[in-house]
Amino acid sequence: MCCEFHDRRQNMANSSCETSFYDVNVISEDLNLLHIELDTDLIENRSNRKDAVCSKNVLRKQRHWERQLAAKRSKRKEEKQRRKLNREQTGDVDTPEFTKRVLKAITKERLAEAQSTGPRLCVDLSMTDCMSDKEISRLAGQIRRLYGSNKKASRPFHLCLTDFKEGSRLYRECVRMNDGFLNYTMKLTEQSCLDLFPSETIVYLTPDAEQALQSVDPDKVYVLGGLVDESIQKKISLDRAGELNVVAARLPIDEYMMKKDNLKSFHSKILAINQVFDILLTFCDTGSWTEAFKLWFPLGKGYIVHPEPTES
Ligand SMILES: C[S@@+](CC[C@H](N)C(=O)[O-])C[C@H]1O[C@@H](n2cnc3c(N)ncnc32)[C@H](O)[C@@H]1O
Repeated sequence: MCCEFHDRRQNMANSSCETSFYDVNVISEDLNLLHIELDTDLIENRSNRKDAVCSKNVLRKQRHWERQLAAKRSKRKEEKQRRKLNREQTGDVDTPEFTKRVLKAITKERLAEAQSTGPRLCVDLSMTDCMSDKEISRLAGQIRRLYGSNKKASRPFHLCLTDFKEGSRLYRECVRMNDGFLNYTMKLTEQSCLDLFPSETIVYLTPDAEQALQSVDPDKVYVLGGLVDESIQKKISLDRAGELNVVAARLPIDEYMMKKDNLKSFHSKILAINQVFDILLTFCDTGSWTEAFKLWFPLGKGYIVHPEPTES
């Protein structure tokens, strides 16, 4: 097309004075041709450039991943050597080093055993309808943390999520947010705690109860209210305990802690379910509320452990 255009320009130059209808047509055709040519070139150039940028990006990413992989490998190797050295120094050479897979299997077995012999705890999910989507997401995160703590525990609890409707907002959020949720070693059921356990064994934990929890009794079933209330609605779990006609108890915060001065004068005894659970786990391990509160009571709640608790 370029040559054709050149020849025609040549002809036009030869008969410069004769501008005819034919010439106008030819020029416009030429311009069209030129236009088409230019566009095609432009598109080709652009796509070539894009390809080059693309492949540069791909290469850069690939190099980045390779560097990361190499760093990970050498870190793993260093870590392995460090552990080996440690074992040699402590004379612990006979203790087998468990691989991740073995450790996972041991944890799974311990959790499975706890499902039949461990102390029992339900999270009552019958009250999630009135919660916002944000609260539902936070509750799903708290369930993940609670389960994570149980996995790490030396003596895990037998866990149940009760009144847990398949396909509900919370169910979908748990599956979306929590890796492997449907394989968690805990009972997921649409039944309520009363369908599963005799009412006289149930102790509903609520910050608004009069009675303080003394200890964790292996014959009882402890129930946490599956609630995240950003707009603190008081006594929901206490009302629920009344509705179920079961005993209600609060953590013994008044007995083992005291208010701490703070700028905002903020004091709260309402904890998230995973925080209550961490306190219960440590109490079961140590038999000491002081230890459990020291370790797990959130600093921002405006309480510190009492140097002379009213109960010991
Ligand atoms: C964020 S709290 C919900 C607070 C809510 N206003 C209510 O009425 O329960 C979530 C759950 O954790 C447990 N919980 C929180 N703080 C507690 C405390 N100080 N004593 C006993 N249980 C507590 C309760 O089971 C409670 O339902």
